[in-house]
Amino acid sequence: MKGVVLAGGSGTRLHPLTRITNKHLLPLFDRPMISYGIEALVQAGITEIMLVTGGTHAGEFLRLLGNGHEHGIDRLSYAYQDRPGGIAEALGLAERFAADDPILVMLGDNIVEHSFRTTVERFGSQDRGARIILTEEEDPTHLRHLGVPDFDDAGRIRRIVEKPEDPPSHYAVTGIYCYPPEVFSIIGTLEPSGRGELEITDVNNWFVDKGEMEFDVLEGFWGDAGESIEAYYAVNDFVRAHGVNKA
Ligand code: TTP
Repeated sequence: MKGVVLAGGSGTRLHPLTRITNKHLLPLFDRPMISYGIEALVQAGITEIMLVTGGTHAGEFLRLLGNGHEHGIDRLSYAYQDRPGGIAEALGLAERFAADDPILVMLGDNIVEHSFRTTVERFGSQDRGARIILTEEEDPTHLRHLGVPDFDDAGRIRRIVEKPEDPPSHYAVTGIYCYPPEVFSIIGTLEPSGRGELEITDVNNWFVDKGEMEFDVLEGFWGDAGESIEAYYAVNDFVRAHGVNKA
């Protein structure tokens, strides 16, 4: 399985910090944010990775990560997204890199306390479809800013609802997704949403509609360091106090 880490976007919710650099280069405790996502993939056994970025600081990722060997990566590729056209659009740039292999995609601003290696293993033995990682979230105010799964009576995902007014469950979709190679043809059929982006939730709901979406629930802390300046500092505090990417 290959890995794709997404580190483009505009990062407007962290303005003005992100007016002068890429969000994923901001510090989280003692390292630039992107290092944690890279470390998480390597820990999960994924050592062929593509980093997708955009904007004005793309060269700094090369300076930080180089050929990836120091970070345990066998082969590190880079792609450049011309404009922040959405998570699904950024993923589409990895099509040739993936070359018919299954992929794990991680948003570069997501931080996890525990390794998701078991998800990678389970996806590896899945004969079709996609697999996502959910996190438990009790706070309805927070859920209203996230993608929330609605479950059927059998406990399967019936729909993922983006930013629901009335959250249908106490779970949120994290930015860690496993896809089969057909994901790229699905991205090719997407229309931009109201905000002009190709939405990853549309990709996920495509698999949900086909009955081909599996999931795991993450144990421990999950944070989206780009969600707000408060969230950025909460993630910083957690990383500093407890450490993350634990085996
Ligand atoms: P978001 O946080 O949803 O978007 P953003 O980074 O543009 O921030 P904001 O909403 O505050 O303006 O993006 C989630 C992740 O996906 C983040 O790690 C960056 C990545 N991403 C891309 O690589 N390309 C894109 O076009 C977008 C929108 C996001």
